[in-house]
Amino acid sequence: MNNSAPIGIFDSGVGGLTVAHAVSDLLPEEQLVYFGDSAHLPYGDKSAATIQAYSIKICDVLLEKGCKLILIACNSASAAAYELIKAYVGSKAKVLNVIDPVVDHVAKNYTSKKVGLIGTKQTVGSGVYEYQIKVKDPSIKVQSLATPLLVPMIEEGFHNDNISEAIISEYLNHSILNEVNGLILGCTHYPLIKDSIESFYQNKVEVIDSSRIVAAALKLYLEDLNLLSSAREQENEFIVSDITPSFEKASELFFGSKIKLNQHILWE
Ligand code: DGL
Repeated sequence: MNNSAPIGIFDSGVGGLTVAHAVSDLLPEEQLVYFGDSAHLPYGDKSAATIQAYSIKICDVLLEKGCKLILIACNSASAAAYELIKAYVGSKAKVLNVIDPVVDHVAKNYTSKKVGLIGTKQTVGSGVYEYQIKVKDPSIKVQSLATPLLVPMIEEGFHNDNISEAIISEYLNHSILNEVNGLILGCTHYPLIKDSIESFYQNKVEVIDSSRIVAAALKLYLEDLNLLSSAREQENEFIVSDITPSFEKASELFFGSKIKLNQHILWE
């Protein structure tokens, strides 16, 4: 496997750019190929079978680009399609998801404690976080709540205002999240409202931002396999399956700076 080959990162849309941004910050020498399936979002309300079918098509694109590793940046796709993607990709590339590094972080730091999880209906309904955390440390109690209004709220630009504060506190006041010691942000979009969530908890609860944890885990993984790139040979590439002015605007919001989106239609 070639160290200078790109890292493929995919998501249901432009939200996964929060993960791509964390990766490019930590590993600036890596070339990234990002694929956002904006034609088919949201994944969070779709069935596992549909998400699996889209994910395989995306992996074909990333493999054609010669990616050494595919990082599933989307929590919903990580929950629904990780095992299938690993089997499909085989030895052609390494595959990582956004859930395992967070599970490891929680297992290491929350023995005998209570952790909350917020995410899409797909991620929460899959039970994958609870299951994997229980396997690693049965003393940890995981309490999950689907928070489907948060993705459209963030995409429509509502953060750090009265509307977002009201929706966030309505969800976080739910009894299921009572007295948690930490809260997992189980969705690509939520790093954008991390500050509001920390303020809700008056900074007394760790708000677990998966984008940073995943970037750190990716770095360690590549180091262990001796697969880190020493110099980026080409520019990062950002591909979407549907392009509109609002995706372009949102991409800037999620990546933190202006990027150029190229379109690749997934279905002929
Ligand atoms: N990327 C999705 C996730 O992390 C959120 C947006 C969607 O539902 O497609 O679960």
